[in-house]
Amino acid sequence: MSAVPAPKGGACHGVRHVAIIMDGNGRWAKKRHLPRALGHQRGVEAVRRVVRAAGEMGLEAITLYAFSTENWRRPEDEISALMGLLKRFILSDLDEIAGNNVRLKIIGDHSAFAPDVVGLIENALARTAGNTGMALAIALNYGSQDEIARAAAKAAAKGPITPEAISAELDTADLPPLDLLIRTSGEVRLSNFLLWQAAYAEMQFTDVLWPDFGPEQLEDALAEFATRERRFGGR
Ligand code: IPE
Ligand code: IPE
Ligand code: MG
Repeated sequence: MSAVPAPKGGACHGVRHVAIIMDGNGRWAKKRHLPRALGHQRGVEAVRRVVRAAGEMGLEAITLYAFSTENWRRPEDEISALMGLLKRFILSDLDEIAGNNVRLKIIGDHSAFAPDVVGLIENALARTAGNTGMALAIALNYGSQDEIARAAAKAAAKGPITPEAISAELDTADLPPLDLLIRTSGEVRLSNFLLWQAAYAEMQFTDVLWPDFGPEQLEDALAEFATRERRFGGR
């Protein structure tokens, strides 16, 4: 992975920040008569491929929806399988992430997780904090409504509540503006992800299930983004 950003119009097509709702692990497993947990495991492999590709393409930031504030409604065994995969991912991939100059970031409130998970996350954050390459933001116990409420409370404590003041307190405040939001698995909804940040983001919904997503699908998404005309309300 190169630390030098690709030129505008290069592999990243001028996209700075992509976010992905990584959906469809369960359906991927079901189609193959496999346990859901295996779908999640293959989902982690897709994360690894996509993060590598995003760095190589010169993206400044990629934000991945891994666990929502609503995902606590799932059965306990599925939640613990997801936590196990998160722990294993950090243990197996932190060296590569850190070595590629990637700065890890968590959006959402990860303090709600078990102490061992929190410890691994805090260590990974500290280890990559000084990195200057791509930001890898993982949304954990993240819900956009919760994020906006927290940001509004912080803004109110400092002064008038304005859009700028709220933006400055969002978990994503230090990331570039969101250019492109992708959701896999055919669902066409945001499921409480980046509601504020998506105000002028381009959106793409693909039927590909997350475990089948890879560099090729990311490249296609960026190429399709390049054909869009963004207006931001102007003309
Ligand atoms: C996405 O896959 C991963 C998480 C929400 C953690 P799902 O588990 O939602 O898969 P489907 O939507 O049931 O296929
Ligand atoms: C959104 O997917 C959350 C993540 C991908 C982490 P869900 O599968 O939880 O969303 P819904 O319930 O189908 O809207
Ligand atoms: Mg789902």
